[in-house]
Amino acid sequence: MLRRLHKEQPESFAFTPDNLAWARTQITKFPKGRQASAIIPLLWRAQEQEGWLSRPAIEHIAEMLDMAYMRALEVATFYFMFQLQPVGSVAHIQICGTTSCMICGAEDLVAVCKEKIAQKPFETSPDGKLSWEEVECLGACANAPMAQIGKDYYEDLTAERLGEILDEILAGKVPTPGPQNGRYASEPAMGLTSLKDYEADRHPENASVELATTIGDTIKRIDGSEVELEAPWHDFSQEVGEAEPSRGVEKAPDHPIDETGVDKREAVAGGKAHPKSYEPAQAAEEAEEDIGEKPEQLSGPRGGGADDLKKIKGVGPKLEKMLNSLGFYHFDQIAGWTEAEVAWVDHHLEGFKGRVSRDDWVSQAKALTSDDET
Ligand code: FES
Repeated sequence: MLRRLHKEQPESFAFTPDNLAWARTQITKFPKGRQASAIIPLLWRAQEQEGWLSRPAIEHIAEMLDMAYMRALEVATFYFMFQLQPVGSVAHIQICGTTSCMICGAEDLVAVCKEKIAQKPFETSPDGKLSWEEVECLGACANAPMAQIGKDYYEDLTAERLGEILDEILAGKVPTPGPQNGRYASEPAMGLTSLKDYEADRHPENASVELATTIGDTIKRIDGSEVELEAPWHDFSQEVGEAEPSRGVEKAPDHPIDETGVDKREAVAGGKAHPKSYEPAQAAEEAEEDIGEKPEQLSGPRGGGADDLKKIKGVGPKLEKMLNSLGFYHFDQIAGWTEAEVAWVDHHLEGFKGRVSRDDWVSQAKALTSDDET
């Protein structure tokens, strides 16, 4: 399936203050220089907040993680769990259409969606509240046919029951997830044939349903206020520029950081500062001791002019410009970098960190100085 950004995009995206604090906490789980590893949780959080992933959201997260927009877009378009178009404001229904579910009546469920929501997948219902799509196996084949609605599974469905569930959701209720035909879990439809001794002691609902009901976030939009943030591995108060303990350590929705009631991160989220000026983390980064060893730099290219650094595989016009601005113009300069110098350059390629070692520029430059092909 072709996955593209939606043709209509919002002007901007910002995490809610609590979601921003949550996102910052996720970033601290990864070592310096590896913040990009937080891309999936952050994209997911943005989707939980807005219902879908817009281009401004993807770009905002890329900036937070110091990644090229393209890299973040690659992740967002690769995984089908990310919705690249607006979905129903109340719920998005995902009907499993793979073998077990198809044999057991998935087509009837799709027919209900077409009738009650919209003829085509990803179209929203006339009131904008619901949308649907057919998805691949969701791993609940023993309870086919099934659908995922929000975060929970509704299993052993019939067309009639799915219709009722949609009506209940539109009426502001959240139907109990799990098997819808009276089964406890995925035991035989006629009842247990083994382990019967435990039957009397079990809870009224199976553990997944019990947990889903307790948490109650099936179709909720997440604004971050519902979780108590804890990051015992990271002391936010040590971040340069952070005068007070942040929400990452102390959740304090009723205690604004300053008298304006807006803390630094809220200002960023509200667009008062460019999101890229992600101050505490950036300041800490700047204060951090430089990584590696600075190679010898030139103030300009030597007599014959700069080499075409784009001949190095992985170097495009942008990286070439960046290298020039750092004082590197010639293959022989790059060919002579030591391991520590590679680490320094890798660290200073804003948005392209790690490229020198990943694409082994030193070996490539050595080959180019001897007129070999890379
Ligand atoms: S086939 Fe539907 S959950 Fe596996």
